[in-house]
Amino acid sequence: MGFIGIGSRGSQLLELFMQNKDVEIVALCDIYEPYLQRDRSKVDARYLADRASSVPMMDEKFATKPTLYNDYRKLLEDKNVDAVCIATPDHWHAIQMIDAVKAGKDVYVEKPLTQTIKEGRTMVNVCKASNRVVAVGLNRRGNDVYRKLAKEIPAGKIGQVTYEFASKKIISFSIFEASGGELFPYGEIELRGTKGNLYASQDGYKIVPSKKGQFQNWKEKELIKAEEFSIPSQDLKDGSNSFATANRSATSWIASKPAKSHSAPWKTGIAQPALHTLQISP
Ligand SMILES: NC(=O)c1ccc[n+]([C@@H]2O[C@H](COP(=O)([O-])OP(=O)(O)OC[C@H]3O[C@@H](n4cnc5c(N)ncnc54)[C@H](O)[C@@H]3O)[C@@H](O)[C@H]2O)c1
Repeated sequence: MGFIGIGSRGSQLLELFMQNKDVEIVALCDIYEPYLQRDRSKVDARYLADRASSVPMMDEKFATKPTLYNDYRKLLEDKNVDAVCIATPDHWHAIQMIDAVKAGKDVYVEKPLTQTIKEGRTMVNVCKASNRVVAVGLNRRGNDVYRKLAKEIPAGKIGQVTYEFASKKIISFSIFEASGGELFPYGEIELRGTKGNLYASQDGYKIVPSKKGQFQNWKEKELIKAEEFSIPSQDLKDGSNSFATANRSATSWIASKPAKSHSAPWKTGIAQPALHTLQISP
């Protein structure tokens, strides 16, 4: 395998792939020389002072020294490389994945797959036209919480999930990915349903039911119940840990907050009326 982008996430992936006995690391590529040389002592002091936790330890022990490249196109020409792992910044994913597939390599590419729909379509088309395997590092998608919700939400768990804007152009459910802390009080995703709001992270979810109000004439049996669900940190089939691979903030949002601190928004939480139904496919 060859690795393109061996910063924070790329180094985690390097460590995880190295745990597989059938993986041999033959090439590394990064444009930042200290990362490419795997030498933490050469990392800029200011960067270490500001963002030490994002700077990889770089203490891997390679069976044989990988070939180092500072141009990913050169790595793709390397005949010893069967597959590449791409963990460069977001705007590189499309072009590097497409070039890699065209160079005959299988690909693991980090999320977000792409930044635009056009790029995404091109990536899919290039992949389909090849016989290469392309996997996207959307580890949250494989998480038990989201797999459970992908079945339950379309089945009506919080009623109809809604768009907030009549234009249909802006989708009101919000997604916040990876390592930036919490966007919402209870997690990283908020879905507004006609029967309640749901807040989820990969650690669990919380449902804030709609209440009877001035304009809602809910019948008692139509109301849904408050619900909390949490999962413990779990070992994934690839030997990694769901928390570690997600590069998430240190504490679990459910575990870190006493139940009491959740109470105020529960009292006021009223779901938005349905304007447009959002179709969620698992
Ligand atoms: N799945 C997850 O849980 C998860 C977690 C964190 C980050 N990510 C994703 O991983 C990607 C990288 O994030 P990060 O936090 O590791 O950033 P980072 O800045 O630590 O690492 C990116 C690396 O890519 C290198 N790079 C930039 N342009 C390059 C190029 N053209 N060729 C080769 N190397 C190049 C940089 O020098 C840097 O070392 C992002 O797209 C991010 O969204 C995913």
